[in-house]
Amino acid sequence: MRYSRIAATGSYLPAKVLTNFDLEKMLNTSDQWIRERTGIERRHIAADGETTVDLAEHAVRAALDAAGCRPEDVDLIIFGTTTPNLFFPNCGVLLQARLGCRGVPAFSVETACSGFMYALSIADKFVRAGEAKRALAIGAETLSRITDWTDRSTAVLFADGAGAVLLEPAEAPGIVSTHLHADGGYWDLLYSGGGTDLSKPSRAITMKGNDVFKIAVNTLTKSIEETLAANRIVPAALDWLVPHQANLRIIQATARRLDLPMERVITTVQDHGNTSAASVPLALDFGVRSGKIRRGDLILLEAFGGGFTWGSALIRY
Ligand code: COA
Repeated sequence: MRYSRIAATGSYLPAKVLTNFDLEKMLNTSDQWIRERTGIERRHIAADGETTVDLAEHAVRAALDAAGCRPEDVDLIIFGTTTPNLFFPNCGVLLQARLGCRGVPAFSVETACSGFMYALSIADKFVRAGEAKRALAIGAETLSRITDWTDRSTAVLFADGAGAVLLEPAEAPGIVSTHLHADGGYWDLLYSGGGTDLSKPSRAITMKGNDVFKIAVNTLTKSIEETLAANRIVPAALDWLVPHQANLRIIQATARRLDLPMERVITTVQDHGNTSAASVPLALDFGVRSGKIRRGDLILLEAFGGGFTWGSALIRY
């Protein structure tokens, strides 16, 4: 039996930092409100001209360096994003041209905040099937480009960044199991238009925050329980939970329901805001590079987002 494992992780945040105090000057909001309701204190915003693929390239090169691999070693690119550079070609292809690994399959998945979970799950299957040896699963976003900076209910939440993992074949399971779901019945609770549906011309993120909050907590709890049950383990067996970094209260509520102490939860939302598809690989890379996550640790990753789409994965790092 062939498995896949994470050879290395990488991430990148644009240089510009936007604090809650900066937002106070732009909107009728306050640092106290944002911190109490979301846990967010600051976030990174892409510079003019800096694209989703630019951020992803930095993250991918960091992962390749950490793995001691060259771009030519990559034979599959799966790119999770909801803020692509272009309608087409997809971001995976644009990134491939920069890396120079021409000819290998490259595609995007547009499952909003779950983009990385979908990318990871698909990449794992390619490696297990023997169709790829070194597969990149990426989550990268420039949500600042689809944020209505006059709407205080969304502008304080979303931000930019990128994260990536490089998968390689392994004798023992690194990616132990992945579990993906979607329910399109909820599409209008969280969406961005500006596509070919002319009845939804605005690209600005539109969200019913209260509804999203409640469904996110319930769904993420069930998603984690599904993954634990599939592997016949209890929460106490986990070394780390690396959750989607949307809102500290969602993360705390989920951890509480699972009886998981916050000391075993990686949280970056205070510094990164909600970076959608980038949030889980960014938090994972932060955990690895800060020395919290070590080789052999058992980790549960989860994300939830527009669609709704959601997914979780159990990994042995
Ligand atoms: N600053 C100050 N006040 C704000 C504000 C801001 N940035 N945004 C909203 N408010 C106000 C509202 O206008 C409302 O005022 P009112 O009572 O006078 O009408 C009040 O704060 C409460 O708004 P409400 O939407 O009920 O707040 P909340 O506690 O639900 O928090 C969110 C709002 C958006 C933080 C919360 O619903 C949330 O995080 N939802 C999930 C969002 C999410 O994670 N989405 C992505 C999923 S991937």
